[in-house]
Amino acid sequence: MGNTTSSPNFLKRRRKTVNTSRYSRCYAIENTDCNNLPNNDEEVNRMEIQSFLHRHMWKKDFSSPIEEILNTGAKILDIGCGDGAWLAQMATEFPRSSFLGLDISAIDQTKFYPGNLSFIQSNVLDGMPFENSEFDYVHMQMLSMAFTEKEWNQIVIPEMIRITKSGGFIEIMEVDLLPKNAGPNYIKVAQGLLKELQSRGINGRITELLPRMIESTKAIVNIQQEIKTLPIGSWGGEVGEKHQESTMIVLRNFAPQLAHAIGIPTYQFNGLLASAREEMDDEWKTFVNFLRIWGQKV
Ligand SMILES: C[S@@+](CC[C@H](N)C(=O)[O-])C[C@H]1O[C@@H](n2cnc3c(N)ncnc32)[C@H](O)[C@@H]1O
Repeated sequence: MGNTTSSPNFLKRRRKTVNTSRYSRCYAIENTDCNNLPNNDEEVNRMEIQSFLHRHMWKKDFSSPIEEILNTGAKILDIGCGDGAWLAQMATEFPRSSFLGLDISAIDQTKFYPGNLSFIQSNVLDGMPFENSEFDYVHMQMLSMAFTEKEWNQIVIPEMIRITKSGGFIEIMEVDLLPKNAGPNYIKVAQGLLKELQSRGINGRITELLPRMIESTKAIVNIQQEIKTLPIGSWGGEVGEKHQESTMIVLRNFAPQLAHAIGIPTYQFNGLLASAREEMDDEWKTFVNFLRIWGQKV
């Protein structure tokens, strides 16, 4: 493991866009694959669906025992904040605390954000532009497709720990990309996705490894975790339908790569995806697991 109190040598620290106020989510890198998801309006819409699902699933925006410091005034960072939905909710609920969102893409300037929330554009993998021990709480969710296993281990987790104060908390929420109770067509698609990600060094089942990765740093104690399941398909009512919609957006965006990974032409993949969708609605009662893990810096 890298040193958790200073930035690893191989990380070049650079402050890319340093206007820490509201600024526009730029689409200059349209269809970028830096996070292996497109950077466009459909993805922004998908993130909105996701935040509805997360709220339904967890009921609470965080699990770390930080309510008291949030009420008195704490410094919070959300890494890979996307459109800032999680941050906006938190900043409104806890006006005495200050919130910062970091993302490789710029944020939408046209949206209204609370005054105690600002943003910075930066790539986590370059090392984050913060001093050691700056934050009381460092949060990150839904970035499993953005980092290779090695990057999680050598950069992302050590960086999260480095910038957290002693006694402060880190918290991560991620999805296991292998669905449970899936029908044969959906399994084929999901395995194609895992294979495609694996070819880039990305582990779509990072939820299986995160507890051990965090524990092995020895810099985090009082580690706790919780797993929630989310139905996918109409058998899960409105939640299942929204989850299905969000999943289908991701899978459609990956169609050529997934077809290649499975070894079929794209037109055939589209048929496979349609059958997978029908299975989600059927008696299979397919669901997906989400992990939330949190702990305190020594
Ligand atoms: C799937 S979205 C999740 C957004 C948000 N956390 C949520 O739960 O709605 C992933 C976000 O991570 C950002 N991202 C991906 N790679 C990144 C990196 N290396 N550094 C910073 N942000 C990154 C993307 O731009 C995107 O906004």
